[in-house]
Amino acid sequence: MASFGEQIEWYEEVSSTMEVAATRGREGAPEGLVVIAERQQAGRGRLRRNWFSPAGGLWLSLLLRPTLPADSLRLLGLCFAVAAAEAVSEATGLPVGVRWPNDLYVGERKLGGLLVETHLSGESLDFAVMGLGVNVNIPAEDFPEGLRQPPTSILMETGTQASCQALLRAFLQRAEPLYHTLLAGGVAELVERWTKLDVGRGRRVRVSVLGHIAEGEACGIDSSGALVVKGERGPLAIGSGEVEWNPVPPGRPGNSGREG
Ligand code: BTN
Repeated sequence: MASFGEQIEWYEEVSSTMEVAATRGREGAPEGLVVIAERQQAGRGRLRRNWFSPAGGLWLSLLLRPTLPADSLRLLGLCFAVAAAEAVSEATGLPVGVRWPNDLYVGERKLGGLLVETHLSGESLDFAVMGLGVNVNIPAEDFPEGLRQPPTSILMETGTQASCQALLRAFLQRAEPLYHTLLAGGVAELVERWTKLDVGRGRRVRVSVLGHIAEGEACGIDSSGALVVKGERGPLAIGSGEVEWNPVPPGRPGNSGREG
C-alpha cells in the first residue's frame, strides 16, 4: 500500500489538479498520489464554482481508493478538512476552524476549502479525488472583488510568507493516519476532532437541498457526517446542500455570507 505523498506530481500550471488526478486514477495510479500545482487556470470549488488559484496557494489533489460504503463517503471530506485545519494551525499558530461541509476559516474569513469527487465503475466506487486549496501567500489586494465569502490567507493573517512545502508535509502527516482511522471504523474520533474545530456550531444556518430549505441553529455533525440543524420543527440531519451561514431574515438588509 503506497503512502500519501510517496508519489508527487508537481506542475507549474494546470487547468485543475482534480482533472490530472482523475486521469491518473483512470490509468490505475496508486492511492496516495499527490498532484500539486503552483497555479490553476480553471480551479474548481464545490457546487461547480470557480476557485481562484493564482501562484501563492497550496493547490493539491490526492488520489484515494477508499473501502467505504457509499453512505460514508461524505466523511472523507470532513476527515481531510480536520487534517488540513490541524496542520495549518500547527504550522502557523493560526486558529483555523472548520465549517460544514468542508471549509477552513480564520475568524469570519475563508482560508481554504476542500472537495471530494467520486469516480464510479458501474455501481461501485473506482476511486475518489480529494482537492484541497489553502490561500497561503496571497495578498489581500490580489483577491477578486465579490467572492461569496470574504477570503483570507496565511500571509494576510500573519504578515509573513509561509512555506507551501512545509504545509503539504504537515497536511499529509495528519491526513494519512486519520484516513486510516476512518477506514477502520473510527468515526467517533473523527467526529470528536471535527467538533473541537467546528466554528459553525451554534450559528444560524440555512441549507438548500434540491429546492428545499432547512433553517435553524447548526448543532454539529452526526456520525454520518451530516449537519444537524435544529429548526422550528426539531432537529434535521442534512447530508448535502448549499450553505448560508448567519442568513439575514427576509425583509432585513445585510450580507448573508454565502458559501464560496
Ligand atoms: C471549495 O471550498 O469550494 C473547495 C475548493 C477546493 C479547491 C482545490 S484547489 C486544488 C484542487 N483543484 C481544484 O480545481 N480544486 C481543488
